[in-house]
Amino acid sequence: MACSKDSQSFEPTPLNLSYPSWVEQYVGKPHLPADNPLTVEGFELGRRLFYDTRLSADGSMSCASCHQQQYSFDDNRAFSIGVDGTVGKRNAMPLINLAWSKSFFWDGRRPSLELQAHDPVVSPSELKNTWPQVVARLQADPEIVERFFRAFGSRSIDSTLIVKAIAQFERTLISFNSRYDRYVYQNDTLALTEQERRGYQIFLNEGLCNHCHTEPLFTDQAFRNNGLDAVPADAGRGGVTGNPADFGTFKVPTLRNIALTAPYMHDGRFQTLEEVVQHYSDGIVPHSPNLDVHLQGVGTGVALTAQQQADLVAFLRALTDSTFISNTAFQNPY
Ligand code: HEC
Ligand code: HEC
Repeated sequence: MACSKDSQSFEPTPLNLSYPSWVEQYVGKPHLPADNPLTVEGFELGRRLFYDTRLSADGSMSCASCHQQQYSFDDNRAFSIGVDGTVGKRNAMPLINLAWSKSFFWDGRRPSLELQAHDPVVSPSELKNTWPQVVARLQADPEIVERFFRAFGSRSIDSTLIVKAIAQFERTLISFNSRYDRYVYQNDTLALTEQERRGYQIFLNEGLCNHCHTEPLFTDQAFRNNGLDAVPADAGRGGVTGNPADFGTFKVPTLRNIALTAPYMHDGRFQTLEEVVQHYSDGIVPHSPNLDVHLQGVGTGVALTAQQQADLVAFLRALTDSTFISNTAFQNPY
């Protein structure tokens, strides 16, 4: 299609996000900024930039180095490793259903995907680059310059257009096709096994999980403390707001595709889902500063039996969307 167009014309093709019809009813509409409408050309450019190693100082890494499709666009390390082997301070986050997110990073310090995408390019523990260098490299590539024109009507590349394109690609990373979804939203009563159905009930009831990891996004998008430490090493949300009531709280992470994103928590301290469930069962530190109201009064945890813990883990594994990690539209185009 692109070939049939005259090279001087700027007429991008609008792109509609595709997701099941129940999503708007239960989750609401995606947040789409008026100044960055989704287009086929913008998406295709963003996909290339997401996988483009020219974004890193030494040409060795891209966004996809730490956000890999096979891990639900997460990596499999406790702390990611950036350019020159620099180790970061937090666990990487999966990139899914971000069109519905209100804030970004574990501490929510960025309010949009466009603003978020500025940070990793220049972060000393990530791509360690400078914007003038990124722009100069891309501007020297006639093919990519043409793609900027087709997406944004300009052959003059700048950081604003780069982050807009990346944000468009990220908004299409939608994942609502797990066996849980078939069971709950498509009335496929056989989609979950008996054990997974028991685990689902524990998730909703005695586990208390759904208070914070609220369906169907499996996050209520709030900042909360889940009782990990008496003396948190990372201020979390408190480091952004300076409010003592936010100290040691973190954005409630989604549990979709959670079986793919080990290790767990903002510092990757737990290797397995069994360890995570054990934490909620009897590892809560009752004197954690700002321990969330939903976990106050449970002492050291919600005290699940070994069978209940196994059932809950089985349910968490049923939240994996295998079509998402094999979707060719999200793969490296190079
Ligand atoms: C060196 C590894 C690394 C690279 C490279 C990297 N990221 Fe990340 N990403 C992380 C880590 C670690 C976090 C969490 C950091 C925090 O909370 O402070 C994160 C968080 C994010 C989030 C927030 C997700 C959410 O749910 O809040 C988005 C979006 C994101 N990265 C996109 C990108 C994009 C786009 C690029 C390329 C321009 C990129 N990342 C490059 C490691 C990386
Ligand atoms: C009080 C709110 C709250 C409750 C209740 C809660 N969680 Fe969490 N959960 C969080 C927060 C906040 C984090 C991130 C904490 C951090 O990294 O410091 C988290 C992290 C996790 C993670 C790691 C996610 C990742 O990407 O690393 C898993 C898995 C998890 N919770 C499962 C559960 C299960 C299962 C239950 C029920 C037994 C549960 N949670 C109950 C708030 C809660």
